[in-house]
Formats: sequence, structure tokens, C-alpha cells
Amino acid sequence: MSEANQSTIIQTRDLHKCYWVGTMPYPALHGIDLQIRSGEFAVLAGRSGSGKSTLLNIIGGLESADRGQAEVLGEDILKMGNSQRSKFRLTNIGFIFQAYNLIRVLSARENVAYVCQLQGKSKQQSLEIANHWLHEVEIGHLGYRRPDQLSGGQQQRVAVARALATEPKIILADEPTANLDSTTGRHLIELMQRLNQTLETTFLISSHDPDVKQAASRLIKLSDGQIVDSWDEIPQPPRSLEATCPLRNRPFTERLRHLFTPRRKARQQNRQRTSRHS
Ligand SMILES: Nc1ncnc2c1ncn2[C@@H]1O[C@H](COP(=O)(O)OP(=O)(O)O)[C@@H](O)[C@H]1O
Ligand SMILES: [Mg+2]
Repeated sequence: MSEANQSTIIQTRDLHKCYWVGTMPYPALHGIDLQIRSGEFAVLAGRSGSGKSTLLNIIGGLESADRGQAEVLGEDILKMGNSQRSKFRLTNIGFIFQAYNLIRVLSARENVAYVCQLQGKSKQQSLEIANHWLHEVEIGHLGYRRPDQLSGGQQQRVAVARALATEPKIILADEPTANLDSTTGRHLIELMQRLNQTLETTFLISSHDPDVKQAASRLIKLSDGQIVDSWDEIPQPPRSLEATCPLRNRPFTERLRHLFTPRRKARQQNRQRTSRHS
């Protein structure tokens, strides 16, 4: 194996994915070739619907692909059976989700300990590990609180501790700052950068938050399910929108009149009709 290949931790080749709702196709990925090296703090950027979550979910073994390969630590996650994939994920990949995905009835430390117990560790040992990681993300004093007794930023820190508790080589984070205010979001980014540097954990983060993009060691741009070199930062309204909504840029009162005129006419015609019959 060459030196370049040795440090490759994620490699996708010609990855395709289309969702189907009944007979309606919703294309998500069109031939993604992506290489992530060990220790990177890589950010997947792109507008909503560009395929960021789909790509992360496939790399993390949460979803299947229609075509292509997704190698993680040299093994194609798409070729694994269900139980092999679950075990692989539990050992090697930590997830941080936009909506935190914490278990409501468990305390912060129990949420973190839970993944260690899934790995076969005893409850006592798992709780000790949980305490350690909660301290690491600076909320060690909040371990006995349930998610609904924590702020959004604190809940996301619990999620980061949970992702780290199994000491995975890779952390996949899907829009981790999307539900946080900008200051809390920036603290979370700093925390993830520090963990990336001290633990050498590889981060692949999807986001369209400018602060996350700025922190990236590499920015990977996605557009309509493809990796692109660049895109227009300011989205233009699609032309068809102007055609389908001719009143879109008209004053509010004009739009209101347009909305009520047909009803008023119908009411007048109705009144005339009833007076003729009476
Ligand atoms: N479960 C689903 N069913 C149907 N279409 C989906 C589903 N998940 C994603 N899509 C579609 O796939 C495309 C990519 O979605 P997604 O990966 O969620 O993008 P992003 O995370 O960049 O917003 C979008 O067009 C979206 O509507
Ligand atoms: Mg998404």
C-alpha cells in the first residue's frame, strides 16, 4: 500500500443514490468520488437538498446506495451485512446530528454511557467513561440532568461526548450548529477543532454555516448531488418561480386584491342568481 493510501480513512467511488416516493424519483447523489485523509477537519458544504446528509448517512452505514463504493478504514461499508455494519459503526464512527438525538428519559451521563454499554462494557465502567467525556466537553457538572433540563448548546455537547465515548477514528456531524445561536455554535466548532487536534479524530462535517466553513481544513462543495469546484454563494431564484408566480414581486395590496377579486365576483354572481329566482 502506498503512503497516500495508508492515510486515506474514507474513500467513496462513483456513489449514486436516488430516493423514490411511490413512482416519483428524488435524485440525491450522482457519482461522488471523495477521499478523506486521517486527521482532516473536512466540511461538506452546499445548499439544502444538495445531498450532504445522504452522503454522510451512506458513509456512516445508515443508508444504502444504488451504485458505487464507500470504503471506511479500507472496508466497503456497503458490502457489510447488518450486524457487521452495526458493530463496525459502533467501534469506528461517532455521529453528531443536527437535532442532537438524545434519549429523553436518560440523564446526560446515561446517554453517553449507553453507547459504551452497547459495546459490551459494564454499567459502572460505562458511567465512568461518560463522566470523563462530559468533563472533556466542559459539562461534567451537568451529568445528572436530562436533555430537557439542558440548553441546546449543552445538549449538543452531550451528543459530542456520546460520539467520542467509543473513541472512534471518525466523527460524522450533520449540521451540528444548525440549531444553535452563533456564539454557542462557535464554541462548539472550537471544541471540535480542539478534539480534532488533540485526539487526531477525523471530522467530516456537513454544514452551510459560514463559521463552520471557515474552520475547515478542507471545504468540499456539493451541488445537486455532485462535488463541484465552486458555486454562486448567493442563491438566485429559479426562473420558473417568476413564471409560476407572476405577482411575486408586486406590492402586498395588489397581491391581496388579486387574491380576493375572484371570490368577490363569485359572490356577486351568486347574489344576482338568487335574486332572479326569488
Ligand atoms: N427520505 C427521502 N425521501 C425522498 N427524498 C429524499 C429523502 N431524503 C433526501 N431526499 C432528497 O434527496 C436530496 C438530497 O437530500 P439531503 O441529502 O437531505 O440534502 P442536504 O442534507 O444537503 O439538505 C433532496 O432532493 C431531498 O429532497
Ligand atoms: Mg441535511
